[in-house]
Formats: sequence, structure tokens, C-alpha cells
Amino acid sequence: MAARICILNGPNLNLLGKRQPEIYGHDTLEDVARDCAALAAELGLETEMFQSNHEGEIIDRIHRAREDAAGIIINPAAYTHTSVAILDALNAFEGPVLEVHISNVHKRESFRHHSYVSLRADGVIAGFGVQGYELALRRMARLLA
Ligand code: DQA
Repeated sequence: MAARICILNGPNLNLLGKRQPEIYGHDTLEDVARDCAALAAELGLETEMFQSNHEGEIIDRIHRAREDAAGIIINPAAYTHTSVAILDALNAFEGPVLEVHISNVHKRESFRHHSYVSLRADGVIAGFGVQGYELALRRMARLLA
């Protein structure tokens, strides 16, 4: 059975494609899910796209990933910069964790420059648009090989 990779997305990313397209582009999260699923199949992996606007739901999904996922790709969105609780949940996950940001957070407001999740992430991708998810998936395949 193919190893499952959870692709977790934080608040407001359900509006991807509609929300500030000059920053985040025109692709929707469904587009990203479809492209990642196709790439995962090529890489011998399986992806599950998850999005929530609620911190606790993201934490619950990370806890379940301890049992049902080999790796986590996470775009925590605004929780990147605020959530010790998501960091703690990721610290309880044993597989690889890759952090993705669609925009280049380092080119933006200073409050976006700090990431709690980066204290756990095995790698970080920022500013590659939604292509960052596919790049993270390729890296994940390498890490799990
Ligand atoms: C984001 C960057 C965050 O600062 C922001 O709050 C988001 C999206 C990104 O993908 O570029 O919602 O994580």
C-alpha cells in the first residue's frame, strides 16, 4: 500500500484562488489537491488534502497522522506565526514534516518572518506559489525512500 502523506492547510486557505490572488495566485485548493494526487501516484505515494480554519481540528488531524500517515506537508497559514500548540502536535509526530508557504513570507510584514512550525520542520519552502506543494511532495518521496 502506498504511504500516505497528509497535506494540511490552515485558516483562509479554503479561499485559495479567490483570496488576494495577487499574492496567492488563481489556483484553488482543489486544483492543488488534484495536481498533488497525480504527482503522488507517480512517486508511489498517496496524498490526503485537509484544510481547517480551526486550530484544534488541525491538531486533531496531526494526532491521527501518528497512526495513518508517513509524512506531513503543512501550510499552517496564519497559525505559522502564532501556534505553539501546532508545533507541539508536530513534535509528537515521528515522520518527516515539510512546511510550505505559497508566498515569500520573508518579503512580507515582519510578523510573518517568524515561524513556530519551522522549529520542527525538516524543510521549508516559501515563495514558489502553489508549486511549493509539489516540490515538497518530491522532497518527501526522497526522504521516505
Ligand atoms: C501563508 C503565509 C501566511 O503568513 C499567511 O497568514 C497565510 C498563507 C502562505 O502560504 O504564503 O495565510 O502561509
